[in-house]
Amino acid sequence: MSDPRPIGVFDSGVGGLTVVNQMQDILPQEDIVYFGDTARVPYGTKSKETITRFSVENVEFLMTHDVKLVIVACNTASSLGLEFLKRCFKVPIIGVIEPGAKCAVSRTRNRRIGVIGTSATIASGAYEKAIKKINPGNSVFTGSCPLFVPLVEEGWIDNPVAYTIAGIYLKNLKAKNIDTLIMGCTHYPILRRVIKDAIGPKVLLIDSAREVAKEARLVLDSCGLFNRMSTKGEHRFFVSDEPGRFIKMGEKFLKKKIKCVKRAL
Ligand code: DGL
Repeated sequence: MSDPRPIGVFDSGVGGLTVVNQMQDILPQEDIVYFGDTARVPYGTKSKETITRFSVENVEFLMTHDVKLVIVACNTASSLGLEFLKRCFKVPIIGVIEPGAKCAVSRTRNRRIGVIGTSATIASGAYEKAIKKINPGNSVFTGSCPLFVPLVEEGWIDNPVAYTIAGIYLKNLKAKNIDTLIMGCTHYPILRRVIKDAIGPKVLLIDSAREVAKEARLVLDSCGLFNRMSTKGEHRFFVSDEPGRFIKMGEKFLKKKIKCVKRAL
């Protein structure tokens, strides 16, 4: 069986391209329709009600492209909107929280896991709940790092300011003797080196973007939804504001040229 329909991916903006980046590696044969809600970014400072409403509209848009699976690439939308989305739509929908939590639980040795994310993600307690559900014996320590998103978007990813800010944000977590840290925001894998420097070389960094791409492969497999007729998928990008800034930043996230971005919603 082969299903040629695309996979839908949405994020509050450009950050979800870290998920697309991993999908190129893990599911190279699949077509992707990406929607970045650039007109309404950031989600990380907004309420559950607002984020849920935006998320429903984003999935409705993806459904107009007849997607076979939806990936909520945004950690904030996954934390606050995923359960509601699953109740609203028949299409399989996966978020980044559970895959990231599962990986952290399987990799920690001392059962002390850290989580960093936007203010909304951390306030929701979603990662903590997911980790405790898998194994209540783990201790979870969290911290929000709201300046990381603008740092990445400014391209300040290897800059003394970034190292200073990371040092301040991660000071408390470093004192908790964690051995595993979940980068619970789309943008954070871009700051991997800075985060590693601040938290210490022995702490294992978990990239939720990579874990959700692996989860997508499992779902396609178990539902018989693989596109077996293609070897190289086509990626189409849509944004809710003018595409120029998305293209400029997106090429850094994807490490390749983005040919066509259309405006939608
Ligand atoms: N995409 C968001 C996340 O992963 C970060 C950017 C935002 O605040 O919208 O949480």
